[in-house]
Amino acid sequence: MKKRVTKAIFPVAGLGTRFLPATKSVPKEIMTLVDRPLIQYAIDEARAAGIKEFIFVTARGKSALEDYFDRAPELEAQLRKKDKTDLLEALKATNMDSGAIAYIRQQQALGLGHAVWCARRLVGNEPFAVILPDDVIAAEKPCLQQMVEAHAETGGCMVAAMEVSPDKASAYGILDVAEDMGAMVRASGMVEKPKADEAPSNLAVIGRYILTPRVMQTLNRKETGAGGEIQLTDAIAREIEEGRDVYGYRFRGQRFDCGSKAGFLQATVAFGLSRDDLRDEFSTYLDELTAVRRAAQ
Ligand code: G1P
Repeated sequence: MKKRVTKAIFPVAGLGTRFLPATKSVPKEIMTLVDRPLIQYAIDEARAAGIKEFIFVTARGKSALEDYFDRAPELEAQLRKKDKTDLLEALKATNMDSGAIAYIRQQQALGLGHAVWCARRLVGNEPFAVILPDDVIAAEKPCLQQMVEAHAETGGCMVAAMEVSPDKASAYGILDVAEDMGAMVRASGMVEKPKADEAPSNLAVIGRYILTPRVMQTLNRKETGAGGEIQLTDAIAREIEEGRDVYGYRFRGQRFDCGSKAGFLQATVAFGLSRDDLRDEFSTYLDELTAVRRAAQ
C-alpha cells in the first residue's frame, strides 16, 4: 500500500532581497496578504491536504516565524476580557499541535535542494511534500490536496505545473514532456532555469512537490547546478534518468508569484476582492480608480 503523505517541508530561509527594505527585519513569509501572512496560506493548504507534521527550514533573522506559531497568552487574555470572540477565533488558525511543527536551520544559502536536504532526518523514509510559500495558489480545492489525491493513484514524484509564456521559462524549472494525459503529464526530463531558446517546453514547475525519500539520497551528493546552487529540480530529474516516474500536475487554480512585487500586489487585489467583508468597499474604490485613470488618458 502507498504511504500517505503526512509531512511537509517549508523552505523559509530565503533573504527576500526583492522586498528590501521591508525584509530587513521582517521575514518575507510574514508579509501580509489582506490580514494573513504568506506562511498562513501555506500552512492552511498543507492542513487541507492532510499534512500533520510541518518542517520549517529557517535561517538567521527568521524568529518572527516561530513566534507567529506560538501561543500569545497576554494577547488572548486581553481579547477574552474584551469579549472579542471573532479575533480569538482568527488567532486559532495560528495554533499548532504540540510537536507538530519543527524548525531546522540552514546555515548557508546553498540552494533550494540544500534547504530541503536539511530536513532529511525528520522526513525519514516516507514520501513528503514541499511547499514554497512565495507561490500562493487560490483554488476551490487547495492545490496540494488536488496533488495528494492524484498522487494516491500514481505514486512516484509529482510537481505542480503551469504553462508560462516562453519569455518567462528561464525563471522556472521546466518539464520535458514524455506523455501528456491532460491534467497530468509524465516527464522525460526537468531543467532548472533554462535559457529562453533551450527550454524543452513551456510547462513550468510551481512551488508544490510530492517527493520520494530517494530524492534526499540524491541531494546527499551535494551536486551544484544552475546558479552554482544545489537544485531540487536536478535531484528530481535524476529520478527520471534512473527510470522512475515523475509527473507534472496541472492544478486547477490561480497562482500568484508573491516573491515578486507585481505578483504580490496582484494577489493583494485578488484576495481583497474575494473577501465578503471587503469586496463592496474595495471594488468601489477600484472602479473609481480605473475611471479616474481612463479619464486622464
Ligand atoms: C524555485 C524552483 C523552480 C520553480 C520555482 C517556482 O525557483 O527552483 O524550479 O519553478 O521555484 O516558483 P525560485 O523561484 O526560488 O528561483
